[in-house]
Amino acid sequence: MFRTHTCGELRINNINSEVILAGWVQTVRKFGAITFVDLRDRYGITQLLFGEELNQQLDANPLGREFVLQAAGTVHERSNKNPNITTGDIEISVRSFKILNRSATPPFTIQDDTDGGDDLRMKYRFLDLRRNAVKKNIELRHAVNRATRNYLHQQGFMDIETPFLIKSTPEGARDFVVPSRMNPGQFYALPQSPQTFKQHLMVSGYDRYYQIVKCFRDEDLRADRQPEFTQIDCEMAFVEQEDILNMFEGMVKSIFKEVKGIDYSEKVERMTWEDAMWTYGNDKPDIRFEMKLANLKFPAHTFPNKIEMLQSSPLGTGGLNSGFGVFDNAETVIAFAVPGCSEYSRKQTDELTEWVKRPQIGMGGLGFIKWNKDGSYKSSMDKFFNEEKLKAIAVACSASAGDLILILAGPEERTRKAVSELRMEMAGRLGLRKSEEFKLLWVLDFPLFEYDAGENRWVARHHPFTSPKPSDIETMINNDPVIDNAAEYLKHPYANIKANAYDMVLNGNEIGGGSIRIYQRELQEKMFAALGMSKEESLHKFSFLLGAFEYGAPPHGGIAFGFDRLCAILGGSESIRDFIAFPKNNAGRDVMLDAPATIDEKQLNELQIKSIAKKE
Ligand code: AMO
Repeated sequence: MFRTHTCGELRINNINSEVILAGWVQTVRKFGAITFVDLRDRYGITQLLFGEELNQQLDANPLGREFVLQAAGTVHERSNKNPNITTGDIEISVRSFKILNRSATPPFTIQDDTDGGDDLRMKYRFLDLRRNAVKKNIELRHAVNRATRNYLHQQGFMDIETPFLIKSTPEGARDFVVPSRMNPGQFYALPQSPQTFKQHLMVSGYDRYYQIVKCFRDEDLRADRQPEFTQIDCEMAFVEQEDILNMFEGMVKSIFKEVKGIDYSEKVERMTWEDAMWTYGNDKPDIRFEMKLANLKFPAHTFPNKIEMLQSSPLGTGGLNSGFGVFDNAETVIAFAVPGCSEYSRKQTDELTEWVKRPQIGMGGLGFIKWNKDGSYKSSMDKFFNEEKLKAIAVACSASAGDLILILAGPEERTRKAVSELRMEMAGRLGLRKSEEFKLLWVLDFPLFEYDAGENRWVARHHPFTSPKPSDIETMINNDPVIDNAAEYLKHPYANIKANAYDMVLNGNEIGGGSIRIYQRELQEKMFAALGMSKEESLHKFSFLLGAFEYGAPPHGGIAFGFDRLCAILGGSESIRDFIAFPKNNAGRDVMLDAPATIDEKQLNELQIKSIAKKE
């Protein structure tokens, strides 16, 4: 027997037991004739005490950090207890020991606050994974996985695997491709998601499907994106949007309960896409805090339903002839109030101005109004705005005395992005983005199409299998998708078609997205045509799906959650890498394996591929 107990298991009630432990040497401390060793495994750390009688043996077999050690001995109460570890009341008086394996000196310390930088830790990820801080994340991931499976199993979902070597599924990214030796010149694509398979499974009658599954997307990486990532992928037949929202609110709440012990009993908020864009400047708003936007000036066509609000804005739809060129000439002016910050110094507002001028944000400057606690106003635009106007802007931001109002002006898309980044930044500075507070939100009624200016055509905002809202089907069928006047694409009837799609947002992160699907061949064909595909092209690419729709496809819909993202947020982090055992770096490389790598000439020949890339 290698061990009788783990290193995290022994307590005061085990005193006088004879035990055998096995694990890694965390530290070796010599005090005169005796030696203390902290032995670590997945479960914890136990202190070993080597008495004088073992000195000779220790001298002959010196212990080093990360050596694999087996030790047999008796559990004794410690005279000097350590309340910081669960085994801190006891230690093992070692009778005999055996070095099971030696270790080279690790390149960084295996501790919570390690001295290893990111690159080094990724290269030696197998050592990094020994650290408690990383292990906790991997354990959390396991717990989320288990809670998900429990819930979906209880709800009658079947876990069905789908293939990895497939024909491309469009999810908006580039495919990773795999050459086929047996079919020279032909390639498989790795799935960006199992989208079409899960729809086929609905046609097959497996009306509640799920899979915790790898997806592959060749896209630019960010903290919340990896080239291979995991989805909780689900599909249901004979459902409407409401059924899906209820089912998956239930899933996330049950994960909260099982993994974090949180009773999320409140109703999950819902918001239309348009309201999200209007009020928060983006489609995944963080609603843990207010700081709602005041759209002081906006091109009226962008949010046609908000025209009335625009007209009542302090600047008006046409802009105010204030003489302040930055506002008068800007397409968009947006403001929001930062609570309790009216006492910001000049230095602080200058620093914020520099923040918005960084290339990542790309704004020309920042306007501000300080609504002082005594009711007076101080503004960077005092020259152009009288107190009445400043007050009107403050009121539009729902500000109170004591607040600092920040204002950005510029081209619409850039300004909207910048203002939502600034809102998050300010919330972070004020400590409003609390990692232990969770706020779920459904964003609904997305536009079905997005305009691709480069190609002057429509692209699917979600994917081409998403159904329009039933009330918009007529508009889709009865209108020609061709855009005659690119500058006025927003006036095309397609711009207003809403999708039967929904995203789940948690603390400002999109953790899941899905839709009710098209299930009739004719509508699906119309959709492909709307996206600019010829009949031949859509048959070539999607005959398998269109064919399946001829054999009794039921109404169906589904959703996929970003599993890594969900784990990261529950673990209080924004980087999904920390929650993946073997992640890729920002250049998409596995630095531990040093992949991707070139392959042998022989392998290339077998695949009938000639590499034209220059060798390093
Ligand atoms: P979508 O493309 O929105 O939908 O993806 C679903 C969720 O997956 C997560 N996600 C990612 N996580 C890490 N790295 C990435 N590169 C990455 N890309 C996406 C996000 C996202 O919300 N087939 C559809 C789902 C459906 O319609 O049922 C799909 O894949 O959290």
